[in-house]
Amino acid sequence: MTLTAHPSRALTGEIAVPGDKSISHRALMLGGLAVGETRVTGLLEGEDVLATAEAMRQLGAEVIREADGTWRVFGVGVGGLKEPATALDFGNSGTGVRLMMGIVAGHPITATFTGDASLSTRPMGRVITPLSEMGANVHAREGGRLPLTLTGAQRALPITYPLPVASAQVKSAVLFAGLGAPGQTTVIEPKPTRDHSERMLKAFGADVVTEEGPKGMRVIRVTGEAELTPCQIAVPGDPSSAAFPVVAALITPGSDITVRGITLNPHRAGLYATLIDMGGHIEFLNERDEGGEPVADLRVRASALKGIEVPPERAPSMIDEYPVLAIAAAFAEGKTVMRGAEELRVKESDRIAAVAAGLLANGIEVEELPDGMIVQGYGGAPQGGGHALTHMDHRIAMSFLVLGLGAKKPVSIDEGRMIATSFPDFLPLMRGLGAEIAGESA
Ligand code: S3P
Repeated sequence: MTLTAHPSRALTGEIAVPGDKSISHRALMLGGLAVGETRVTGLLEGEDVLATAEAMRQLGAEVIREADGTWRVFGVGVGGLKEPATALDFGNSGTGVRLMMGIVAGHPITATFTGDASLSTRPMGRVITPLSEMGANVHAREGGRLPLTLTGAQRALPITYPLPVASAQVKSAVLFAGLGAPGQTTVIEPKPTRDHSERMLKAFGADVVTEEGPKGMRVIRVTGEAELTPCQIAVPGDPSSAAFPVVAALITPGSDITVRGITLNPHRAGLYATLIDMGGHIEFLNERDEGGEPVADLRVRASALKGIEVPPERAPSMIDEYPVLAIAAAFAEGKTVMRGAEELRVKESDRIAAVAAGLLANGIEVEELPDGMIVQGYGGAPQGGGHALTHMDHRIAMSFLVLGLGAKKPVSIDEGRMIATSFPDFLPLMRGLGAEIAGESA
């Protein structure tokens, strides 16, 4: 379904974006591994998370959605999952498949993991390697791609694993497999990545210890053969989804919006620090702690932005936000340099190539780098008027629709369907703020 965003009047109003995707996946997974009932409110009901809910059911947990939107997960305990009768299909979701591979690796069962065309091109070797060291047996397609079949270990081996890539998914897969192993499983991360797994494991009563080393290095240890106790989880708003209305308000003259209840976990907030460095008017209101995560409301006003060099060490804390940052950069005065983000090449699409092509199609100068890009800003509204190819990537789709709201001419995208993987209400929420986006609902 083609969608077209038209140059918009000022965006105004107050919205809440859906629940955080990373936290939603983990709530269902750890709920399924606890003994008894976990209740989750504010769960993101996007396709990625619904695929995880279905996979947990296939593995033997009872997962129920109440009419009021509360989710109830009746867990079977660590070690209690059953072998699924059919393949587990994770759709578009790298987080779903990689974290669940970790969980299955800690159980003596066999499961087949599949996904859509985009997920089937993404590298799974990064989790196959440590999980094999822990005793899992994996048969994957050439290059460690899906579909793959994984047989978990009878008794997983606790390992010490230094992460070769800064990836919260790999860290979490190893920690989750470690829940089933005797003794301590240790992950060493060279750069800090999102710590939702560690926070939530603690909330479920697991013994998890984090030691901070030099230059952001961290050592995380989980004690296995754990008994997890059920929890109540209130999922905060997703900063990666909030990024789209926030950038839209910054670049659309006269805008003044508030986005309520966003988690500002320091490992997720890199985009907001960057936009403020670029001169964006973003205020954090009503800062509070909700369910172990720092939360705030964001007030955002249209701003004259300036290009900056984004600190490369910030990359893990804003890895999903580079596409929409590139859109903000197109409106800034001067160059914005983004480096240290080579992981963008293996996301739902090659996000460096997809963003560069979309910007060029809209008359915006950009230089692709192996690990990022340099965007030459217009110092105001760029031309627009182009068509962007999304490559089945929800964040590319939403980013180019945001461009169309602030550009001089409308911007279209080839396919909006994937938006439902992470932000099913994107179109109605944006239209409610005053955005003019034509096409069918995603
Ligand atoms: C996620 C980790 C990140 C991120 C993804 C969600 C998570 O991926 O891009 O959207 O929930 O752990 P990597 O771990 O591959 O960097």
